[in-house]
Amino acid sequence: MNIKVFITGASSGIGEYIAYEYAKRGAIIGLTARRKNLLEQVAAKCKELGGDPIIYQFDVSDADSTKQAIDDFIQKNNGIDVVIANAGISGKVDLQSGNSDQTNRMLSTNILGVSNTALPVLPSMLKQKSGKVVVVSSIAGFRALPSRSSYSASKIAIRFMNNSWRYTFQKQGINFITICPGFIETNMTDKNKFKMPFLMNVDVFAKKMIKAIDKNKKTYIAPWQWNFIVPLIRIVPDWLINFAASKKVQK
Ligand SMILES: NC(=O)c1ccc[n+]([C@@H]2O[C@H](COP(=O)([O-])OP(=O)(O)OC[C@H]3O[C@@H](n4cnc5c(N)ncnc54)[C@H](OP(=O)(O)O)[C@@H]3O)[C@@H](O)[C@H]2O)c1
Repeated sequence: MNIKVFITGASSGIGEYIAYEYAKRGAIIGLTARRKNLLEQVAAKCKELGGDPIIYQFDVSDADSTKQAIDDFIQKNNGIDVVIANAGISGKVDLQSGNSDQTNRMLSTNILGVSNTALPVLPSMLKQKSGKVVVVSSIAGFRALPSRSSYSASKIAIRFMNNSWRYTFQKQGINFITICPGFIETNMTDKNKFKMPFLMNVDVFAKKMIKAIDKNKKTYIAPWQWNFIVPLIRIVPDWLINFAASKKVQK
């Protein structure tokens, strides 16, 4: 039987390329994002690769429209095997503007977007006693980073949330998988002006990510070099982060 996968943020980058990997396996794929024209292009390529795409256009920060799309996908396909909460935004937030709009937008997309996506699938997966909940966090989700307060906070929050779900539902047959990419070549990193260590091609990353999902890895960090660096990031003393921040940081 064809695997049923629902992906948020499938109009570009990691979500798009993971959709192609599932399409090659003949999957039924819920492709979702806000930009419908891009979703249509991704859907056409998924079809060419052997997949069966269904497009849903919504904003993940809107709980009702996200749930509506998920409920429709589950009902049409009589269940769901994998949900990938991948949609996210990054970038600098102007902390001195005097208002919280930008910060809240990022928190709501990156955190509420994940709970809005993952929680509506749980009743169905609990009933089936199977399924995979995949959350795309980041290596930025291991330590508060200067100039990236909302982004790193959002990625830490969703990693913790997914870990907690894993403990809570450990005997229910559902796998909770957290993906922590380093720097991957997508629209998100295209705008970065700094040198990005171990920058990885998105197609290569998607192939590795789908293998990690197959193996039910609890936490998957890639490129591999970050597996050695992340533990160091976690124990680096505050004074060193303060020093780095004092060199070039927008407050
Ligand atoms: N690239 C990296 O180096 C890297 C590293 C670590 C983690 N990540 C994470 O990987 C995920 C995918 O990022 P990417 O690199 O593939 O970037 P991307 O190419 O910019 O893709 C982001 C995707 O999220 C969707 N999206 C953004 N806001 C949304 C919203 N409010 N509602 C619905 N969809 C929304 C976008 O579609 P629309 O604009 O069409 O809605 C797009 O499909 C993100 O969570 C990101 O934080 C990326």
